[in-house]
Amino acid sequence: MTTFWNWYITLLTLGTIAALIWLIMATRKGQRAESTEETVGHAFDGIEEYDNPLPKWWFMLFVATIVFALGYLVLYPGLGNWRGILPGYEQLDSEADLAFADGKSGWTGVHQWEKEMAQAEAQYGPLFEKYAAMPIEQVAQDPQALKMGGRLFASNCSVCHGSDAKGAYGFPNLTDNDWLWGGEAETIKTTILGGRQATMPAWRDVIGEEGIRNVAGYVRSLSGLKNPEGVEIDLAKGKEIFATNCAVCHGPEAKGTQAMGAPNLTDRTWLYGSSFGQVQQTLRYGRNGRMPAQEEMLGNDKVHLLAAYVYSLSHKEETE
Ligand code: HEC
Ligand code: HEC
Repeated sequence: MTTFWNWYITLLTLGTIAALIWLIMATRKGQRAESTEETVGHAFDGIEEYDNPLPKWWFMLFVATIVFALGYLVLYPGLGNWRGILPGYEQLDSEADLAFADGKSGWTGVHQWEKEMAQAEAQYGPLFEKYAAMPIEQVAQDPQALKMGGRLFASNCSVCHGSDAKGAYGFPNLTDNDWLWGGEAETIKTTILGGRQATMPAWRDVIGEEGIRNVAGYVRSLSGLKNPEGVEIDLAKGKEIFATNCAVCHGPEAKGTQAMGAPNLTDRTWLYGSSFGQVQQTLRYGRNGRMPAQEEMLGNDKVHLLAAYVYSLSHKEETE
């Protein structure tokens, strides 16, 4: 900070405290020592006020806040170049402490945070490295690794996939061993590292509302869903449309293509809902599910643990 702002803040802070001390002393002066039945003399809507002194505990509370403020200013950095009298890291002697002393004394929030991070790194770094060198399937059988993976999942993935990893509308269930992009351990890791972008095109302008009705009915029939009565659906036409437009991605038997993240349409797992209305909606406007890449945020070692954790969720019998 510039000298001007240093002085500005210092004077403002100390000035305010001094003013408060004056205020509390000034109001105490001239107060009577004993409580009384006399009033101060004014009335508002019939309410009057006794001319009593401030209760002692009340007064002491004011004093305590002032003492606290002054104590805080002495202990912690804040005013001007004052760095506080709490120990800085050069007064401690572990290596992590020294690494962040940067030649200055005194406590700072940044130093404390950096120190805690360094301690966590010193504690967990070697563990992450150890697991990263093991095959994912093997890590998935290590209870300690799964505990760490579970914690990483809770803080980085559960917002979208749910704390039980069972997913929600638009966010796939990761526990059912039914995969959009593939369930091999290494494939799961690739998904988490690099993210995935699904592209299901919009069909409204290509096959029209009638086409959408027919192919939606056809696709639903593949997993044995009953189509609504009273809606005109030509399953044969739907099948034709599917062969020409959809099979490239979803496969001739509609069993899906994991390389494209195109889901199997013959099972009972639906990412965007299975009702006739929802399937039509998917077809009309397309879908573009996006799994964000984690490589930059978390790095390879943590993703390795996460892949093991996710893998374990659908391989319970093997991992227990
Ligand atoms: C370019 C490849 C591609 C083509 C062509 C394509 N799809 Fe898709 N489709 C996808 C992908 C990828 C997804 C997954 C979207 C997501 O995860 O956000 C998808 C999702 C769907 C879903 C949603 C499934 C669910 O679980 O909710 C349905 C239904 C569907 N497609 C039907 C069709 C039909 C019918 C056609 C032809 C008219 C078609 N798709 C053509 C790639 C394609
Ligand atoms: C912003 C929301 C979001 C976050 C955060 C997120 N994901 Fe995802 N994830 C998705 C979506 C959406 C998809 C489906 C993409 C698609 O439609 O193909 C997905 C797909 C996946 C898949 C592929 C599932 C399959 O069937 O192939 C895996 C594995 C996965 N996520 C794991 C994770 C892990 C582990 C984390 C935490 C590091 C995470 N995700 C964080 C939204 C998210």
